[in-house]
Amino acid sequence: MREVFPGTRRYTQHAIFELAETIRARDIVTYEHCRRVAIYANRLARHMGWHRRAARDLALAGLIHDLGKTWVQNSVLHKPTALSQDEWLEMQRHPVIAARILMTYDVPDDLIEIVLHHHEAYDGRGYPDHLVGEAIPLGARLLTVADVFDALTSARSYKEPLPLQDVRERIERSSGVLFDPAVVSAFIEMLDTTPDFLLPSRAVPAPMEPIPGWDNHDTIE
Ligand SMILES: [Fe+2]
Repeated sequence: MREVFPGTRRYTQHAIFELAETIRARDIVTYEHCRRVAIYANRLARHMGWHRRAARDLALAGLIHDLGKTWVQNSVLHKPTALSQDEWLEMQRHPVIAARILMTYDVPDDLIEIVLHHHEAYDGRGYPDHLVGEAIPLGARLLTVADVFDALTSARSYKEPLPLQDVRERIERSSGVLFDPAVVSAFIEMLDTTPDFLLPSRAVPAPMEPIPGWDNHDTIE
């Protein structure tokens, strides 16, 4: 595969970087997560033999995969304890919200599909469309491993990071359930053969400067 999103490359990259900036302004934790997932997804795609450009395109999807969380209420997004059923349902809307936002930009459909399906599970128990196995776009199958890896290895307001060995075991256990087995094998192989694979969590002060032309804080809170 040479390219995931052929053509309109420069426009797409510009649009994605702009959208990533809106995530950064809204919530630095989500932004940093997206940034690390983009890097892990890029490494994974390269490890699986993807062309450099295709891997970079997947990284663009990674960079804004949680864009929809910019529209989730703060009380849910930053809740330090477990979510209630209703809050969980609200949180689960984020891939669809992201896809809707992206559809207003002239970015490739493949990119939108990857973002829309990054919470599908290999056994069909994911969301939003309960896609099964190879019906899930390949890029989304890679992204979901990178996404869960980062979620487990990084700290959140409600949890400490898990040790790397535990994370490795959890990902292996979820092979064929949550994840595509071929993607898990590649990921584990890469993890085992790459020294210092884990990206450091950056301590960044939350920038809350307003976003020109989009007063999203009024709308969200
Ligand atoms: Fe997500």
